[in-house]
Order: sequence, then structure tokens, then C-alpha cells
Amino acid sequence: MILRTALLVVAMTQTVAAAQDVKQHGDTLPDATDRELVMEACTRCHGIDLVVEQRRSPDEWIQVVSMMVGSGMALTDEKYRRIVSYLSENLASPAPPQLIYQAPSTFNRSVLVVDHKGYRSLRFGNADDRDQSRIKPGHPEQLPMPYLRSAAVGLAVPQKLERLLVIGLGGGAFPAFIRADFPGVYIDAVEIDPVVAKVAIEYFDVFADDKLQIHIADAVDFVREDRKPYDYIFLDAYDADQLPDALTTRRFFNDVKANLTADGVVVANIAVKSHSKARTVARKLMSFYNSCLHLRSAPSLNDVLLLSDNPLPGRSDLLTWAERSGNKDATWQGMTDHIRAAKTCP
Ligand code: HEC
Repeated sequence: MILRTALLVVAMTQTVAAAQDVKQHGDTLPDATDRELVMEACTRCHGIDLVVEQRRSPDEWIQVVSMMVGSGMALTDEKYRRIVSYLSENLASPAPPQLIYQAPSTFNRSVLVVDHKGYRSLRFGNADDRDQSRIKPGHPEQLPMPYLRSAAVGLAVPQKLERLLVIGLGGGAFPAFIRADFPGVYIDAVEIDPVVAKVAIEYFDVFADDKLQIHIADAVDFVREDRKPYDYIFLDAYDADQLPDALTTRRFFNDVKANLTADGVVVANIAVKSHSKARTVARKLMSFYNSCLHLRSAPSLNDVLLLSDNPLPGRSDLLTWAERSGNKDATWQGMTDHIRAAKTCP
């Protein structure tokens, strides 16, 4: 416990040192009393665009600010009240969540599409369940879900990025992002649930063409077949507490590796920090590769592992890559935040 706190302090110090280059982006908080106070308090660890984009209810703003205090933000009670009140009045949520579509599914009980705060989400089970996928409609270049920003860091690993395999399509936010920011890359996306694939195409920014093929298939069978190898393979079919047994066997991991180029990267979204079963599975997966990097997108608590047989680029190389890409929106800013907080694998 003590060790963990010490590590957190180190990570935060590095984040604070990086704040200078963060401050210049997207400075568009509404002009009202206490605007300067919020600007000052909320740009110490990340860009203000992360805040400006949000629309939330007063209760939700209390949650956000409390979460930031949990991440190490020091605030007096009085400043806490003034910040919450500024955010609640000036960045209020316009309307309650709207259920757009719902269909039964044998794989996910029920598949739902919900619009809220300018974002569109895919949810399983109930309308108030957690987001499985989230997009900003019309903006495929944005990755509103922090864990996908971690996954995007893996794009820096292979020497060439030509072929990509995504296992678990969800709302297709990741393939849509690749298409927007890395045109020319070929993507195979494998989704076991036909209802999810249909919803992704009809309600999200996904469309199949010669650069994106959507396969309604069991990933176990898909990777069994002999294919042209991929430079990047994304394992995005694990849920926080649900790890399909068939996707956690040595045989499956072997088949995944057989489909990877020599300097390719496997990116796994798996909750290693919060679930012991996920930890066991992650160890098994890690044993197949020589190098591993752990990206954690707090406060969403997703863990993303980058795995490769080649040595992975170091932090400064990854930062140079993210900065060279020239894109300074919140998505790339989020990626640089995650790179700064990256750790070796647990
Ligand atoms: C001590 C560091 C720190 C400070 C100061 C801070 N934050 Fe954050 N904030 C974080 C971290 C870490 C994340 C996670 C970033 C990510 O995952 O991309 C985050 C993420 C967020 C998110 C995105 C959450 C989501 O669900 O996507 C919002 C909104 C946010 N912060 C608002 C604020 C506001 C408002 C303030 C000022 C009151 C603030 N932050 C100050 C550390 C901080």
C-alpha cells in the first residue's frame, strides 16, 4: 500500500511537469464568475479540453471533482464549492439520456443504443448500465473512451502499420478512429454477436468497405485459420468481470501470436488491477511475449497491456511519436497523458 502511494506521487509529479504544454489547448471555458479559478485548478494534470467537452448534472460534477481530489488534487472546501457551482451552472447536461434502440441478443442479453451529453453509447443489459462503447457522432477522429486512447498508443509499436485485427467490435469506435487518423490501414474486425455488428453499422460511425471487413464469427475460429499476419491485434472482447473462457486458453493465445508479424503488437483491454481472474489471464498472455507495457486509464479503471516480442519503445519515443503525429486534440492529448503514466507490466 505504501509502495503504491509512493509510485502515485512520482507519476503525479511527472504529470504536473508536463502541464505547461497542456495549458495552451482548447481554452474555451464559458466566461462567468470563477472561470479563472477553474482554469487554474483543472489544468494541472490534463488539458482543459477534457473539461470543456463535458456536460453534466450537478451530482455528476460533484462526482467528477471528488474523483479528481482522489487523483491528488488539493482543494479547500470553499474552492471545491465554487468549482462545483461554476461547472454545474456553465457546463450543465442538456437533457437526460435518450434510448435510441434496443434489441434482444443471445450473447449480451440486450443491446442498447443511448444518446447522452452529445455522445452515443452502446450498452448491454440495461439502459443505465456502463458504456461498452462511446462515440461523438460525426467525429470518428475522437476517442471519448479513455481506454481506447491507451490502445491507440500501441499504434506506435510496429515498424509499419498495414494490417490490423480487432477482436470485439462493440460500437466500432476504434476502427472508425483508425480510418480517420490512419487512412490506408486495412482492418479485419471480428464480432461474435450479429446484433452488435448490425447496431455498429446502423447507429455508429462504422461502414464496411475494401479497408474494413466485419466478420460475424467466433474469434477462436477466426484466428485458427492461416491468414496474412497482422501488425497490430486488439483483444477487446474481455469485460471487467467477464472473460470468455474460450478467449483465455493457451491455444487461443498461441493462435493470436501465429497471426502477428515479427515486430507486431498485441493490445489487450483487460482489468488486471481490479480482478484476480483477469490478472491470472493477463499473466498467461504475457508469458507469450518478451516485452509488455501497462497503460491505465484512471478514473475509468481499464487496463491496457501492450505486448510484443521486440523491445517496446520507451516513454520519450512514444511521446515523440504522439507529438509528431501533429494532432493536438483531446484524444491525442489523452494519449500523451497515458504515455506519461505508463508502467511496466504487473
Ligand atoms: C491531480 C491531477 C488532476 C487534476 C488537478 C484534475 N484532474 Fe481531471 N483527471 C485526472 C486524471 C488522471 C484523469 C484521467 C485521464 C484519462 O483517463 O484520460 C482525469 C480525467 C478527467 C475527466 C474525464 C473523465 C471521464 O470520465 O472521461 C474529467 C471530466 C476531468 N478530469 C475533470 C477535471 C476537472 C473539472 C478538474 C478541476 C476541478 C480536474 N479534472 C482536475 C487528474 C486530474
